[in-house]
Amino acid sequence: MAKRKTQFVCSACGSAFAKWAGRCPDCGTWDALEEVRIDASASVDPHGPGSLASDGVGPTVQAVPIAQAGDAEPTTRIATGVGEFDRVLGGGLVPGSAVLLGGDPGIGKSTLMLQAAGRLAREGRPVLYVGAEESAAQIRMRAERLTQQSNVSRELPEMLFVLPDTNLARIVEQARKLNPVAVVIDSVQMIYKGDLPAAPGSVTQLRTCTLELVYHAKQAGHALLLVGHVTKTGNLAGPKLLEHMVDAVLSFEGDRYHAHRVVRAVKNRFGNTLEVGLFDMTGTGLREVTDAGGLLAQEYRARPGSVVCPVLSGSRCLLVEIQALTATGFLGSAKRKATGLDSNRLAMLIAVLEKRAELRLADQDVFTSSVGGMKITEPAADLPLALAIAGAHLNRSLPEGTAAVGEVGLGGEVRHVQQLERRLAEAVRLGFKRVLVPKGTKVNADSAALVPVGTVDEAIQTLQ
Ligand code: TYD
Ligand code: MG
Repeated sequence: MAKRKTQFVCSACGSAFAKWAGRCPDCGTWDALEEVRIDASASVDPHGPGSLASDGVGPTVQAVPIAQAGDAEPTTRIATGVGEFDRVLGGGLVPGSAVLLGGDPGIGKSTLMLQAAGRLAREGRPVLYVGAEESAAQIRMRAERLTQQSNVSRELPEMLFVLPDTNLARIVEQARKLNPVAVVIDSVQMIYKGDLPAAPGSVTQLRTCTLELVYHAKQAGHALLLVGHVTKTGNLAGPKLLEHMVDAVLSFEGDRYHAHRVVRAVKNRFGNTLEVGLFDMTGTGLREVTDAGGLLAQEYRARPGSVVCPVLSGSRCLLVEIQALTATGFLGSAKRKATGLDSNRLAMLIAVLEKRAELRLADQDVFTSSVGGMKITEPAADLPLALAIAGAHLNRSLPEGTAAVGEVGLGGEVRHVQQLERRLAEAVRLGFKRVLVPKGTKVNADSAALVPVGTVDEAIQTLQ
């Protein structure tokens, strides 16, 4: 008799090991390894029965020249009608694909899914919404709330089918019957397969259920939208485990105490991962923010420690207010905090300001943040951040209507950034009269708006 094999899978990162350990060797999470049995009945071959993986012989699949590859599979995308969501997906849902939407509890994942499902259904396309966490009445109440939005009809969409169930077999059965264009599973951690001994949300259940759902989506050609929680509660496995099983991983971010919400792609096999979708949470659901240019700098006015930076994010340019505050701390244990900004970049900029601009920051606590919780990873935000810190420390601010953009090198030099013209155009469009830019950049923009600076020190001289 073949020996039964087991593996230990980390519920946080999904790595598998032959031996148990108290701490995951890959991601370092404590007490996250769970024993998983590897047997044929618990796994589904994603390539379908008869493929090489399941029976050891390759029956029908043949290698073809790349020019003929994929001829049989037309990929016409289905736009959900929620423009900002489609933008992140790369133009809409791809039939047969699986998308995972992760995010903290209460951020609005269910709302976004119900809204997208509702829009699709209004177009006359059947959509199955599996509400595994809520009752049918709750889902209906939420849907009714969403119909109060100004641009949708008051009627509930006829083609939106709700299934408050957690059993995998029943869900697949319903999906077969309805033949929908999209199936939403909210949330995947609640789904269980009856004949598995493991509890819902455990690594075994999550893996098996997701693989089966993805397999059925590919067979039936419907799009699969999976909702997953980011934080671990009890023995719920983190959605990181699922990342390699799906085609796109979207993350829904924002501060639940503020209205702004950002959807970004962490992985996308059918589009780029630079695009972000922007929403505001309102009393009647999520409102798309299409002219987002000035959204994150709405409350900006010239003051020490505040600088606006035109940041590129996929196909759009956003003006983001960057703030800094310095306060006397203790030499040797000064605090450095970065919210929405890179803390390594912050440490580097503080060192550059000390060394190249002779600011004494060693005993200063430095707090920095990007307004609205937008995560900024671009080095183009270096100069604005350095100016915000210097301004906060010197109690000086940039002149009214001035923005800044530029990467800062270790020598204190201001370096070129990509697509400066687009950034300038957006800043000017939103009423900024001047923009501090790296010296020597050739642009075909209104030169009156340009203030070229060669070094951080030079830029600090413009503070008043
Ligand atoms: P929800 O979509 O349930 O979040 P998740 O599925 O990510 O846990 O909604 C989260 C919050 O949004 C909830 O606290 C209530 C709020 N909300 C609104 O402000 N307006 C609305 O129209 C809806 C439906 C929810
Ligand atoms: Mg929810």
